[in-house]
Amino acid sequence: MRNLTLILAAALTLPALAQTPTTPTPAQTAAAAVPSADTTWWKHAVVYEIYPRSFKDSNGDGIGDLNGITSRLDYLQHLGVDAIWIAPMYPSPQVDFGYDISNYEAIDPQYGTLADFDRLLKSAEQHHIRILLDMVMNHTSDKHPWFIDSASSRTNPHANWYIWNDGKPTSDPRAPNAHKGPHGWVVPPNNWSSLFQGSAWEWVESRRQFYYHFFYKQQPDLNYRNPAVEKAMFDAVRFWLDRGVSGFRLDAIATIYEDPSLKDEPLTGHLDASGFPESNHTLTSDLPEVHDFLQRLHNVVAKYPDRMLIGEIYTPNTTTLRSWYGTADKPELELPMDTLLGFHKEGAGITNAANPTLTAAHFRKYITEAETELDGHTPLFVFDNHDNERSWDRFTTPNETFEQKENIAKIIATVLYTTHAASLTYYGAEIGMTTHTPTRKEDVQDPIGITGWPKEKGRDGERTPMQWTPGPQAGFSTNLHTWLPIGDDYKTINTQTESTDPHSLLRWTENLTTLRRSNPALHDGGIIMLDNTNASVLSYIRTAPKGARPVLISLNMTAQPQTIHLDLAAMAGIAVHSLKSLFGTEDLSTFACKDCTQPAFTTDLTLPPYASFIAEVQ
Ligand code: NOJ
Repeated sequence: MRNLTLILAAALTLPALAQTPTTPTPAQTAAAAVPSADTTWWKHAVVYEIYPRSFKDSNGDGIGDLNGITSRLDYLQHLGVDAIWIAPMYPSPQVDFGYDISNYEAIDPQYGTLADFDRLLKSAEQHHIRILLDMVMNHTSDKHPWFIDSASSRTNPHANWYIWNDGKPTSDPRAPNAHKGPHGWVVPPNNWSSLFQGSAWEWVESRRQFYYHFFYKQQPDLNYRNPAVEKAMFDAVRFWLDRGVSGFRLDAIATIYEDPSLKDEPLTGHLDASGFPESNHTLTSDLPEVHDFLQRLHNVVAKYPDRMLIGEIYTPNTTTLRSWYGTADKPELELPMDTLLGFHKEGAGITNAANPTLTAAHFRKYITEAETELDGHTPLFVFDNHDNERSWDRFTTPNETFEQKENIAKIIATVLYTTHAASLTYYGAEIGMTTHTPTRKEDVQDPIGITGWPKEKGRDGERTPMQWTPGPQAGFSTNLHTWLPIGDDYKTINTQTESTDPHSLLRWTENLTTLRRSNPALHDGGIIMLDNTNASVLSYIRTAPKGARPVLISLNMTAQPQTIHLDLAAMAGIAVHSLKSLFGTEDLSTFACKDCTQPAFTTDLTLPPYASFIAEVQ
């Protein structure tokens, strides 16, 4: 999907909050530079998102499944993954490919059985990999028994589990979405729009009422003002925690409450792809109540040792992001997603007009803010997920060569794994999978791509099957008909081919995750941003815990060679005798030392176009 992030950013946050200043206070900068020996697992985690339909098909039906995931745990362990987040694999009519759940305590037969899930958990533990599930709390499927019951009458036991409304009287039976209610013709109570096009209100004849849905009409919103709903959802959470999962990624968590006034929302002034006026979701997203809810949910999860919560959060700035951690007394999310660095367009046009997002200024701003303005909380950097065009395509331009694009992907990977943040990797990003947007409407699977065609082509492009081998169906399935077509670049972009190429993105990623675990500065070090006015090259130091050595990272974000002069004594108070290259995109060892067993002192480096350079300060 081309613009879900932008829509979500506007929809799931309070747009009126002011932009935070980019210059941290000296105290914030000093605090960020201090190493910490905190061993809490998720603070260092490489989290890997698996879209189960697309990862590995074990039974030849063309759809990925749990046994497929189990069969690839060796690969994930080798890649350095600490935890996998599995997108919803519960029973579902699959309108939104699992994000419409009809039973929170079982596995969809397309993906396997509970026994398969338990085997996956056990095997993952043997591979030192934790499992995080996707918990979709905002809505259920319209085929969930709760909704079927709720929709059947106004008096059933679940009557008040969803957001029902009589609507507003109208004298015009031909008005859009007009229906005959018990007391005459009615239209929806307000102008709220669905994020997935059209009105957010859907009529149900059996109740002669509308229900509210933030997403598809097959995803009715639950009514969290009814305590029975919260209890049922917390029971589902306990069900999986008791089974042994290490936590959850909370889907669309900002949208679980709606303003009971049901007033109109301001309009954005745009029509969605179906032609409906979009409302700005000020009364349907990020209401204060959600923070109290998260505190209660956190209490449930905290009863189990070592568990954690990731939140799907899109915020307009770091101040808003900070609010999702809660406070020391009232914690909320361990890792709200920091999507500013990976998706936010605010740094646009600062230094690189051809490619506005890939600029030193953009990266510097959001890394600095994440490291200094989150009150010491761990950021979770995200560049890719199943809702957005892959970063390979967003951070590059069509006229760049494959090699340039690959080097840009290496820059992104370097930022993901060498800052102090926890990291999120979407399956396939580690091999440079590209977005394969459908070119014909009849091929589209994602409903928003069908209703929105051609303006909105949906999210199929970023969900194509994982490319394992250069062989048939890229080794994803034995079935000729996979649920989405295999990307046509699979012969070169696949794990098997890349594992034998020492310069591949896959090998680069493996090297980085290994270094992140084994190098004390990358694991526990603080961070000092360097050379802050350099418009072309992003440089930072990970400071070293006692007895270890700092690590320098320099990334050339331009298509030209760039020479940098880093006076580390002046910039970071670090006396340098030599820089020992740990690795770099080209043979950058020559920039720091002729032969890395004989490191030579230098602080002047010329970095080739889009080069990454990682060196130990000695
Ligand atoms: C966000 C999920 O990431 C997306 O895939 C889904 O369609 C919506 N939430 C609705 O659950």
